[in-house]
Amino acid sequence: MKPIEEFINKVICGDVLEVLSQIPNSCIDLGITSPPYNKKEKHGGWLVPKVVYTGAKDKREEEDYQSWQVEVLDELYRITKEGGSFFYNHKVRYENRKMIHPISWLVKTKWTIWQEIIWHRKIAGNIRGWRFWQVEERIYWLVKGKPEELKPRHAKLTSVWEIRPEQSHKDHPAVFPIELPTRIIYSVLEDKPGTVIDPFCGTGTTLVASKLLNKDFIGIDISQEYVQYAIKRLENAESEKPRVISEINKHIVELTFEKRKKMGLWDKRIKNK
Ligand SMILES: C[S@@+](CC[C@H](N)C(=O)[O-])C[C@H]1O[C@@H](n2cnc3c(N)ncnc32)[C@H](O)[C@@H]1O
Repeated sequence: MKPIEEFINKVICGDVLEVLSQIPNSCIDLGITSPPYNKKEKHGGWLVPKVVYTGAKDKREEEDYQSWQVEVLDELYRITKEGGSFFYNHKVRYENRKMIHPISWLVKTKWTIWQEIIWHRKIAGNIRGWRFWQVEERIYWLVKGKPEELKPRHAKLTSVWEIRPEQSHKDHPAVFPIELPTRIIYSVLEDKPGTVIDPFCGTGTTLVASKLLNKDFIGIDISQEYVQYAIKRLENAESEKPRVISEINKHIVELTFEKRKKMGLWDKRIKNK
């Protein structure tokens, strides 16, 4: 293992398990990631291009894939501080008429599943009619111990997040919209300092959001091309600030209970019942 300082604010090119094994215990506050989904590099629909990465195949036996994800999540658990969180984005897949649900391997990890968040992408990945169009992905809030309570201005954003998929950064097939890691980091860490990790960081969206929110970050990706892209994005991070600010501006409580009472809104609701 190496001292944590060697990883801070770096984008490391390497295999996720090899790099994680060098990071010391209990030093990360928050993690966010979207791993490869084992979509077997098939088309997502006749209008949707297939997901192919430059540095790794997304094509494993399903059993092998799930054990790999458990191993990665348990390594992430080891390096996370007590009270820390990890937000894991995945989706329900259908293969050979069988549903494959992320819960089936998440329950095998050391993490406590704190919440399932629906990411309503408002656009379907598969536009054939074999099933109702799947417009959602999932984000699992995983915790080590007990997290701090969310402030109302964050919690009121609910467990259904309406965020459209990213349209720019066409050099990568599966980029996060920056609003997504921004929402997580700002809700969980607020203005506190902390270290955020993305172990499958791709173009570095989580890292750019962390930098703009004044957090330290660690990114890992196996593709040299994506690591270089992430480094360039971090250098130009300020250009992405308007979208980060516009997400932060959604974290407000317009009418507190106190204000509602003063305006008589609370009494009215009770009287109407
Ligand atoms: C869904 S993408 C993440 C995209 C990222 N959220 C973004 O906003 O750009 C998954 C990433 O995992 C990387 N990857 C695949 N296998 C890996 C491995 N064994 N170790 C590290 N990274 C890997 C791929 O190169 C790909 O960039």
